[in-house]
Amino acid sequence: MSHPNPQTMGQQFGRRSWAEPWKIKMVEPLRMISRDERARALAEAGYNTFLLRSDDVYIDLLTDSGTSAMSDRQWAGMLLGDEAYAGSRNFYHLEEALQHYYGYRFVVPTHQGRGAEHLISQAVIKRGQWVPGNMYFTTTRLHQELAGGIFTDVIIDEAHDSTSMHPFKGNIDLGKLEAVIKREGPEKIAYVSLAGTVNMAGGQPVSMANVRELRALCDRYGVRLFLDATRMVENAFFIQEREAGYANTPIAAIVKEFCGYTDGAWMSAKKDNLVNIGGWLAVNDEQLFEELRNLVVVYEGLHTYGGLAGRDLEAMAIGIAESMSDDHVRARIGQVRYLGELLSDWEIPIVQPIGGHAIFLDARRFYPHIPQVQFPAQTLAAELYLDAGIRSMERGIASAGRDPATGDHYYPKLELTRLTIPRRVYTQAHMDVVAEAVKAVYDAREQTHGLRMVYEPKYLRFFQARFERI
Ligand SMILES: Cc1ncc(COP(=O)(O)O)c(C=O)c1O
Repeated sequence: MSHPNPQTMGQQFGRRSWAEPWKIKMVEPLRMISRDERARALAEAGYNTFLLRSDDVYIDLLTDSGTSAMSDRQWAGMLLGDEAYAGSRNFYHLEEALQHYYGYRFVVPTHQGRGAEHLISQAVIKRGQWVPGNMYFTTTRLHQELAGGIFTDVIIDEAHDSTSMHPFKGNIDLGKLEAVIKREGPEKIAYVSLAGTVNMAGGQPVSMANVRELRALCDRYGVRLFLDATRMVENAFFIQEREAGYANTPIAAIVKEFCGYTDGAWMSAKKDNLVNIGGWLAVNDEQLFEELRNLVVVYEGLHTYGGLAGRDLEAMAIGIAESMSDDHVRARIGQVRYLGELLSDWEIPIVQPIGGHAIFLDARRFYPHIPQVQFPAQTLAAELYLDAGIRSMERGIASAGRDPATGDHYYPKLELTRLTIPRRVYTQAHMDVVAEAVKAVYDAREQTHGLRMVYEPKYLRFFQARFERI
């Protein structure tokens, strides 16, 4: 059969097509189980996509964490693991890569991001101190609270509006921050917690102008500024694309300049840094480093391995360099955008502008008839799995957890279902299948009912909570 109007996707969008800057050398077969089997698997998992077996999933968009494909160079690096208990040569490679690309002076490896969050929170927060941040991240805020800190959100208001087209919805509202500092006094502020691309806001970036002014404000009051660098490379892409003066600046230079305004950073290397496991903490203050280097021995392992094998450190050092390639970042964000633009063109409600690592479906607008206490975003994740074996995750009321002061749910303005795209893993054909599944679930939205929570764990409940259909 001939096509009436044969056009590539690029031609349909009125541009030349582009392709990923890599080719596939090894494949992992995928399998789709039947709809009846998916219905059974979903009920057994308590309608929580975190409790599904990965063998029962067809396209896995649960997370971009630790799910990237490593390159041939990274795999070759794994064979160069120096598994000495102390002073592994791979640690020094990692230290060099970090100093070179992120620019911090001192480095502590950790097993993953939350290991680093734990150490920095324990070292820097005194009980009863405040931690203002640009929205929150689940594990970050929990470690801040467990260390006795009180988190407060100082992101700009636009971040809470899924339709706002503000180009830097991750920015800190400096007025809100200054009001907290003045109200509490600078000595009651543990540090400002800044994330590069804000995950919970839809992968939204922070501008260079904002971090520059933030640095000046922190200096005025003598407050420290630490960065969650987990997706800072992706943040740099948006600065290059949207901020005046950066169009010709390489990603690596943007990352380095941005980090230069901060006192240190923690990292889940499972994202930007293209490894399946790993994290790090890096600071400029030698005294703080001494303390972190001491703490890491208690919780993670010696300061030259931090809970990782030498081979993991090597893969991370190579991954850091690869992650800074402009071609890589452009293709990575280009793929996310491809999916997002299809959905927007079909008028399916998603967070705008399209962010760096994921498409966030706006479950409030998707299911206006399901009240927030009936978990609309969790429901949407369940329906997507049922329709096409696609695994996504909830980023709404279940993820937000409970207010430790009142015991009631936090009621976040954003009630989102996240389709997270692993780096270098899926093709455009997979994105087409995903888009069509979202459309099918959207078309059936009026017949869909919400969920009730029937089991709630104490910490980070979204990982293990169980639900039933209403
Ligand atoms: C922004 C952000 N910070 C921190 C973390 C925690 O990192 P990890 O999952 O490696 O412990 C994650 C990922 O879950 C994240 O997305």
